[in-house]
Amino acid sequence: MYKDSKIYVAGHTGLLGSALMKRLIGDGYSNVITQLHSELELTDKNSIFDFFSTENPEYVFLAAGKVGGIESNKSYPAEYLHVNLAIQDNIFEAAQKYAVKHLIFYGSSCIYPKQCLQPMKEEYLLTGLTEETSEGYATAKISGIIGCKVYNQQYNTNRFIALIPSSMYGPNDNFDIEHSHVISALIRRFHEAKVNNHESATLWGSGKPRREFIYSEDIAGASVFAMQNADRFENRHYNIGTGADYSIKELASITAKIVGFDGEILWDKSKPDGAQRKLLDSTKFLSFGWKPRISIEEGLRRTYEWYQEQSVAQAAI
Ligand SMILES: NC(=O)c1ccc[n+]([C@@H]2O[C@H](COP(=O)([O-])OP(=O)(O)OC[C@H]3O[C@@H](n4cnc5c(N)ncnc54)[C@H](OP(=O)(O)O)[C@@H]3O)[C@@H](O)[C@H]2O)c1
Repeated sequence: MYKDSKIYVAGHTGLLGSALMKRLIGDGYSNVITQLHSELELTDKNSIFDFFSTENPEYVFLAAGKVGGIESNKSYPAEYLHVNLAIQDNIFEAAQKYAVKHLIFYGSSCIYPKQCLQPMKEEYLLTGLTEETSEGYATAKISGIIGCKVYNQQYNTNRFIALIPSSMYGPNDNFDIEHSHVISALIRRFHEAKVNNHESATLWGSGKPRREFIYSEDIAGASVFAMQNADRFENRHYNIGTGADYSIKELASITAKIVGFDGEILWDKSKPDGAQRKLLDSTKFLSFGWKPRISIEEGLRRTYEWYQEQSVAQAAI
């Protein structure tokens, strides 16, 4: 990927897409193209084919998709399945037809079985049933991973790259109550408890499950690295995580400190915990020489700074 290569970031306004934009522009890539959702509906095949035939992107980061938390996944499983399947099917076909050099597709750790040995290795894919709550989303993601593999096989290419990031967080994450992920939910809850002078904040579950998180800009860095090192990859998917996991209790206490909430943290044990542990084995990807750079404390600090700036900007509207 050269500095003047034509690069299309799909979903550039999102958590990962915005981190990719920051990284690519910061690294001096000068020909990055984007389209807002309102300008290009990625579930619409004709619009995508028109776009690819006009623009002919050489590299594609497919960071667009329908992404959300447990409640939203449970309520709208058909939408999670349909939107993600449609986007990836349309873009894979267009990338093949218009001879994109490399395309990165992003899976998710929920592709692995609900009951899975830890840390989760790439070869554990399809060795058991996925979590019921994210079945629609996980099935679409599994199709995308297999899609990368079989397009490469059938067309004898290494055009398609499937990366599986662990749970991401960072600026432009979704802080909406219904759609938020663990970290955005913790930040929002502690921030609101702090500004409203609450003496306690109640979190869901027991706090015991362990999870792995990676800062969005680290995944953006790994993605640029993957584009540059694509010729070294096998035709398979690669996990990307930090290798460190935290209990939700540990994470809550680090987040509360960064947000400045010093009240009591209470646990609503009537709410489900989910899997006890979710940790990716990222040995294969790390063996190429890439390393994550942002510690959880630094990532949380940057994310909270962004959240505060957003809250001030929104209050001013
Ligand atoms: N977040 C995580 O922890 C995580 C972990 C592993 C993998 N991933 C994967 O990484 C990718 C990016 O996730 P993210 O968290 O950055 O998502 P996100 O913040 O929700 O951003 C999604 C982006 O896609 C756009 N988009 C959604 N539906 C679209 C459509 N039908 N047509 C055009 N644009 C559309 C959104 O635009 P609008 O907002 O304007 O609709 C937004 O720019 C996804 O494939 C996700 O599965 C995410």
